[in-house]
Amino acid sequence: MGYNYSFKDNLERAERVAWRIEDLIGGDKTLDFDRPFMPESLARVRALDFLSEHEKMLLNQIRGHTYLRIFGLVEEFILPFVLDHARSLLGGDDYSIRAYLEFAGEEAKHIHLFHRFAEAFRQGFGTACDVIGPGEAVAKHILSHHPLSVALVILHIEWMTQRHFVDSVHDDGKLDPCFKSMLKHHWMEEMQHAQLDTLMVEAIAARMSSAEIESAIDGYWAIGAFLDEGLKQQTQFDLTAFESAARRSLNPEERDQFMKVQHQANRWTYLGSGMSHPKFVEMMGLLNKDKQSGLLDAIPMFS
Ligand SMILES: [Fe+2]
Ligand SMILES: [Fe+2]
Repeated sequence: MGYNYSFKDNLERAERVAWRIEDLIGGDKTLDFDRPFMPESLARVRALDFLSEHEKMLLNQIRGHTYLRIFGLVEEFILPFVLDHARSLLGGDDYSIRAYLEFAGEEAKHIHLFHRFAEAFRQGFGTACDVIGPGEAVAKHILSHHPLSVALVILHIEWMTQRHFVDSVHDDGKLDPCFKSMLKHHWMEEMQHAQLDTLMVEAIAARMSSAEIESAIDGYWAIGAFLDEGLKQQTQFDLTAFESAARRSLNPEERDQFMKVQHQANRWTYLGSGMSHPKFVEMMGLLNKDKQSGLLDAIPMFS
């Protein structure tokens, strides 16, 4: 297929942008609960006009917590997958092995980062918020698919994080600086991951027939459907957490509206924003033109 990403350049960039968790959270750096955490393009709380301004902020922060936990969860299957890929390269090109080990090390750091942020949230928010999981079971299920299906899901996630930070930049400047800095630092390292994952998809696909590739793309969709079911459950958890934090119950029509708007907001955050990224659409086209058309047809459902 032929992407011209260089392992040497990738590694150099990764080493240049490296940061420590302690630079982002801890000490006087903590979450400001008087501000929203998530860009409105992802949170979509404004459409719920039966909520007060304060309640919209509470829901935005609950969605921020969910974001930390869901990323903690997805990074748990990315880490072993990338380590396995790095192991398969042992004895080969020095730069490529080091680039993938750097990638894996950064994902381990990100898991730790999301844990630290989630801990700060728990200490400051005052209401328990449930999240789907456990991570090990989700990872086990996802990793049971064909490696190309998993690599595509990872590629989707890497490009998705690029978009999330860009959205936060275009937000109205009221976001909590600590949360925003987390999105920014994640973005800085994920750029290298997106390129390495592109090369990983290429390397895996190069050993496969077009029929095998087609069925692995179906596997990507099966994982997507599994995640979508989880997001529906998550929206229910967010509703329960919201009612508890706001200390009031929504009426049945408000609950319906909440579920409809917020499930779609979650779909866009974790599915639509990744699958519609131009780089992901491009990769799908390189793998299989018909599947690219199918992807383009499905995007509105997750937007
Ligand atoms: Fe990450
Ligand atoms: Fe990543």
